[in-house]
Amino acid sequence: MITFEGVSKHYPDGTVAVDRLDLEIPTGRTTVLVGSSGSGKTTALRMINRMVEPTSGVLAIDGEDIRGKDPATLRRSIGYVIQQAGLFPHRTIVDNIATVPLLLGTPKAEARGRARELMELVGLEPAQEKRYPHQLSGGQQQRVGVARALAADPPILLMDEPFSAVDPLVRASLQDELLRLQQELHKTIVFVTHDIDEAVKLGDAIAVFRSGGRLAQLAPPEKLLAEPADAFVEDFIGYDRGVRRLSFFPARDLSPRSDIIVADTATAADAGQVAAATGEPWLLVTDAGRRPLGWIGADRLAGLDPGSVLSGVDLIGYGHTFTVPTDSLRAALDAAVLSPAGRAVGVGADGTVIGVVSQTDLGTAIWSVGEADGHAAAEGDDD
Ligand SMILES: Nc1ncnc2c1ncn2[C@@H]1O[C@H](COP(=O)(O)OP(=O)(O)OP(=O)(O)O)[C@@H](O)[C@H]1O
Ligand SMILES: [Mg+2]
Repeated sequence: MITFEGVSKHYPDGTVAVDRLDLEIPTGRTTVLVGSSGSGKTTALRMINRMVEPTSGVLAIDGEDIRGKDPATLRRSIGYVIQQAGLFPHRTIVDNIATVPLLLGTPKAEARGRARELMELVGLEPAQEKRYPHQLSGGQQQRVGVARALAADPPILLMDEPFSAVDPLVRASLQDELLRLQQELHKTIVFVTHDIDEAVKLGDAIAVFRSGGRLAQLAPPEKLLAEPADAFVEDFIGYDRGVRRLSFFPARDLSPRSDIIVADTATAADAGQVAAATGEPWLLVTDAGRRPLGWIGADRLAGLDPGSVLSGVDLIGYGHTFTVPTDSLRAALDAAVLSPAGRAVGVGADGTVIGVVSQTDLGTAIWSVGEADGHAAAEGDDD
């Protein structure tokens, strides 16, 4: 555990970068620091490896005041990843990753062997080991940065906006990789970002900083979104926090309708009757293997000649699907909102259709999330 106790950093020009910070960062978990620019996140992070010394207060790792530790030894137990990867331009990828072990006197062959393992761990192709940093994409360079930080197998990893210089798609895949790595490695990660979505996705806990280097709130993401401590935090996490919260509720609790799925004219007759009886305007057409093909209006179904091949009929694109067993309500809502029929197609892990969910069904599910909150709040009042 990393503990900040009343830690402050005042610069000689009068700037208060961090103000009386009390913070506990649990071992083996990911703690994310977010907050406006200049709120002291980088300063707080760099105090952990003594690149910045506090002006007052105590910073301890596992109960031991870090002022008693030699900075060089301390840094060996702490990996550090920054925004632009900070790679050595004239060293190959494999040697960049092996930097610290080589400095520590690990034999070259051994250090490189370990570096190759790390390349695989962070998702880099073996063919890239002899390249130089400028021959890699931004996302690949960040992977090298992460691999290098892991090379000495430090228990602590400090990451200062490591993914903010890459495009959104690459960023999402780097985030997924980090989540996967963390499941395997259980490092104590302190991660700085400006992006609240990134914080919610990666953090076991989120610390929100406000200007003047003050901690506004420390809470797990679900709790932060449900109960922001004050107007500042509420404003910082944004007006769409309600929608963000839906990512913590599973889509598997929905009951997708499967009675309006049609694969051929034989099923179409029955489904058409169901649709007419329930006032359902859309049916989902699938292929014989139950993979989605598109929407057809219930009224059009009636006009089709018997024996028509549905896959040959003009269908409207089914849009995004959501995976019922693993996705969240947020993914289901997203799929419904983006669907031309206003309905989301729920599929199983194998991609075959389970059923469809209308925006109204989703509204009901989302409403019960709010209801559950109401009960939780009421219970909270009792004790
Ligand atoms: N060496 C320094 N001398 C004086 N002031 C400094 C120094 N380093 C940082 N500061 C100030 O301390 C405050 C906190 O800076 P810090 O870099 O920790 O913020 P941050 O939250 O990481 O911001 P950003 O999100 O922009 O990276 C800022 O006002 C900054 O200008
Ligand atoms: Mg910073």
